Formats: sequence, C-alpha cells, structure tokens
Amino acid sequence: MTIASNIPEILLPTDASEIEQTLNWRNCWYPVTFIQDLPKNRPYSFSLYDEPLVLFRNNNGQLICLTDVCPHRAAKLSDGQIIDGKIECLYHGWQFGNGGECLHIPQLPADAKIPAKACLTSTPA
Ligand code: FES
Repeated sequence: MTIASNIPEILLPTDASEIEQTLNWRNCWYPVTFIQDLPKNRPYSFSLYDEPLVLFRNNNGQLICLTDVCPHRAAKLSDGQIIDGKIECLYHGWQFGNGGECLHIPQLPADAKIPAKACLTSTPA
C-alpha cells in the first residue's frame, strides 16, 4: 500500500529529532480540570510534567496560573489564601499578582523596593 504519495515533501519532517526540536511543551494548552471543579476562593494545586503549578481567580474572575513554589522559602503557594485577587503565601505572607510579580512583603520596610528575585513565573490559563 502506498501512503500519501501526494503530500508535498516540505510538510514532512525529515527525522524524529526535528519534531522534538520544534515542540515546546510550555507552548501547548492542557486540560487541567473542569471549570466547575475549581474552588471559588481557594488556590487549586496541580502539576504538569512534574512542575508544580497553582491556579486561582483574581478580582476580575480571570484565571491566573503561577509556579506553586514561593520564591522565599519554597513553600507551596497553594497552601495559602486569596486576598483581594492576589495569592498569599501561608508562611510569611508574601503576596503575588496576576503575572507572578511580588506585590507585598510584610517584613520589608515601607520604603524598600521589592527585589526582582521575589517574583514567580506565570503561565497563560
Ligand atoms: S515561604 Fe512564602 S513567604 Fe516565606
């Protein structure tokens, strides 16, 4: 049997390594859970390819997906709570916004700048 003899060669990868080089798992969409199973006011923890992630809703109801590891002491952010649309770490109260930016560190003096290393990676949801 002859298979697809009329497919232009330009559409066919030449070998498997070519396919692997073009697939970035972070650029794909994945079903995580049914929307009705997401808790309304609590973080939802899950993992994708062994990467811990957390989902929550901001004040506008938009789903936010962040790395589920606090940059301070590596606690699970999903053990924390949602306050005013931000996720707050349970341990020392650092708060993170939609893009993973650290918005509040209670222990920091009021005039001190939040370090860039205190931010998280966000993932489209
Ligand atoms: S471990 Fe998250 S704020 Fe300290």
